[in-house]
Amino acid sequence: MRILAIETSCDETAAAVVEEGRILLSHVVASQAAFHAKYGGIFPEIAARMHVEAIVPVTREAMAQAGLSWEAIDAIAVTYGPGLPGSLVVGVSFAKALAFARRKPLIAVNHLEGHLYAHRLRVEGNPPEDIPFPFLALIVSGGHTELIWVRDLLDHRRVGWTIDDAAGEAFDKVARLLGLGFPGGPAIERRAQEGDPQAFSLPALPKVDHPLWFSFSGLKTAVLRIVERFEGRALPVADLAASFQAAAIEQLVTKTLEALHHYEARAILISGGVSANRRLREEMARRAPVPVYVPPPWLCTDNAAMIGAAAALHAYAGHFASLDLDVDPDAKIG
Ligand code: KG4
Ligand code: ZN
Repeated sequence: MRILAIETSCDETAAAVVEEGRILLSHVVASQAAFHAKYGGIFPEIAARMHVEAIVPVTREAMAQAGLSWEAIDAIAVTYGPGLPGSLVVGVSFAKALAFARRKPLIAVNHLEGHLYAHRLRVEGNPPEDIPFPFLALIVSGGHTELIWVRDLLDHRRVGWTIDDAAGEAFDKVARLLGLGFPGGPAIERRAQEGDPQAFSLPALPKVDHPLWFSFSGLKTAVLRIVERFEGRALPVADLAASFQAAAIEQLVTKTLEALHHYEARAILISGGVSANRRLREEMARRAPVPVYVPPPWLCTDNAAMIGAAAALHAYAGHFASLDLDVDPDAKIG
């Protein structure tokens, strides 16, 4: 089974051809990140318009790289949510049109399932063997902070989430307070290397009503108060970046390890753009009692290869979508 997968949930226009959910025949990503950097964040209207411009060339390129004719494609898969409404509409409309015109079955994929099953692709950097079930996944990006308990293929449950900002969003907002660019995560990680993570005492563990809920707004406000105190004086950017990063990672690691007390897991998977953070990966690996897996960076950020990997599982289970598939910007998982 060869699937052409399309992903446009945020600011990456992506297409990939995946065989049996495992073998990557092609993968193309057109990122708008450099464009949105001017605005210091993603501009939804513009993201949607840029998807419209990119979707046809990106898909053509994915088909050309795979070297396949349309007859060789068995199904079209697309992310239907969660994500930015206008961005999702572009991918879903395009995939439906393709499925109709080329008479292919359509598969609707939840974006988070893509992050959960990307590790199954047989590509360099992925675990050589499948991650054992049950496992716990921490999906951390600009739009998500989710703890998902994965009992088996397509048998997963969301067990933790953020009650305010996503982890990556917190990095982006704090980077803006510190005068660093967008996206903020890589900039903070870079500046933090020269800073002292104990220079400022910041609230790592938020007061929330459930041990597996995340919250980053208090941490962000604490940084803001310090920045305000320095009004007119040189800001100790490196120390603040290091202290913020340490607190944010402490929360991510503590909550993930806490989840291990509630849900049996033989491994931890980290995915999403924030998984690029070396300190997060190292802290988790150092403190976790089970192995920690992180797919290669290009598979952790948004891409269509992961959508193809998840789509194959749905195809095997006989889950196909109809041509009146609609987007669901708030789609939940499990
Ligand atoms: O998955 P992704 O590329 O896009 C979505 O949000 O869907 O994730 C981007 C997010 C941004 O918020 C960015 O600041 C964060 O991931 N990020 C990082 C690092 N690299 C990217 N956060 C912390 N440390 C990093 N090294
Ligand atoms: Zn994502």
